[in-house]
Amino acid sequence: MMHTVLALETSCDETAAAIVQFEAESFQVLANCIASQANEHAKWGGVVPEIASRRHLETMPFLIDEVFQKSGKNFSKIDAIASTVAPGLTGSLLIGSVTARTLSRLHNLPFLGIHHLEGHLSSALLLENPPIPPYLVLLVSGGHTEIIHVQRNLQYRRVGRSHDDAAGEAFDKVARLLGLPYPGGPAIEKIAINGDPKSFSFPKGKVSKPGGGFYLYDFSFSGLKTAVLRQVETIKSLGDLIPIANIAASFEQVVAEVLVERSIQCSVDNGINSLVMVGGVAANNRLREMMLQEASKKSINIYLAPKAFCTDNAAMIGTAALVRLVSGTTPSSIDLGVSARFQLDQSDLLYQTASPPF
Ligand code: KG4
Ligand code: ZN
Repeated sequence: MMHTVLALETSCDETAAAIVQFEAESFQVLANCIASQANEHAKWGGVVPEIASRRHLETMPFLIDEVFQKSGKNFSKIDAIASTVAPGLTGSLLIGSVTARTLSRLHNLPFLGIHHLEGHLSSALLLENPPIPPYLVLLVSGGHTEIIHVQRNLQYRRVGRSHDDAAGEAFDKVARLLGLPYPGGPAIEKIAINGDPKSFSFPKGKVSKPGGGFYLYDFSFSGLKTAVLRQVETIKSLGDLIPIANIAASFEQVVAEVLVERSIQCSVDNGINSLVMVGGVAANNRLREMMLQEASKKSINIYLAPKAFCTDNAAMIGTAALVRLVSGTTPSSIDLGVSARFQLDQSDLLYQTASPPF
């Protein structure tokens, strides 16, 4: 059976729309359009929520036109409309949600509210050879750093997390203190190519357990950010030039090492030999290469989300919606709102029509 969805993503600073189709057991992205606001937020060094909402509002109608044009589809060929409903910036989420719900009413189509992290996880299903549960997912984005055990389709258990900054947030903060533009990840990656990753040794944050020892699969990036800041201050106080490329490369190296080491350790300890990597930071080449190299030493199968679907996009939201549709999940209530915070393992509640969770 063929299913086609129109999906919208507005949880942060990318306005995105996509049309995705499921046919003969595989997903096809028929159109995927993204209007990035990064340049505008760069002036302020980070995302300004009010500006983000306004840009979503202005841009979304044109993006919807564009995906219909590119895919050659029209509303008569669409089976459902999806939008990200949590977590994210509330004002931004509202724009996608109200657009999707209004269109679903007008065209008499089911509406599916999608959890943003379920979207990121679904980006790996766009691989030619997608992973099949059980598998572990290292999800590394601007808002989250988690290791998630997917025991069965749509069944999630978090087995590792950051206790402070997310990995992407660390990239953004370190970029800022090095005088590099927002978003920090791509800026650090670009300049780090010319740096020596061994020139500085920065700490791999460990999280202590109350009774002694460490949480083996958890992360902490705030100490790393402070260590970089101290290093920059020391060099400045000596009146020397800041070796930005070397600091960027050393920082990128330690983040990649810690993400790779702990997620692979988690796979080995739990006897799960498939490891998936998704989210904005998963676009990082040093991280991708290190992951492939280390996993092959332990005979773990690695699934790296396609680079184009690592950072926020609506194709991954459409894919998640199709997984829900195909697995027989009922659509969301038209009363479903949006939420800044919502746990991934609660996402079944988004399809509870009698009393939606928010
Ligand atoms: O998944 P995403 O687009 O949005 C969230 O859901 O948060 O992730 C954005 C984050 C930003 O912090 C950005 O700096 C980081 O992903 N990022 C990267 C790269 N591209 C984006 N970090 C490292 N290397 C990259 N190439
Ligand atoms: Zn995201």
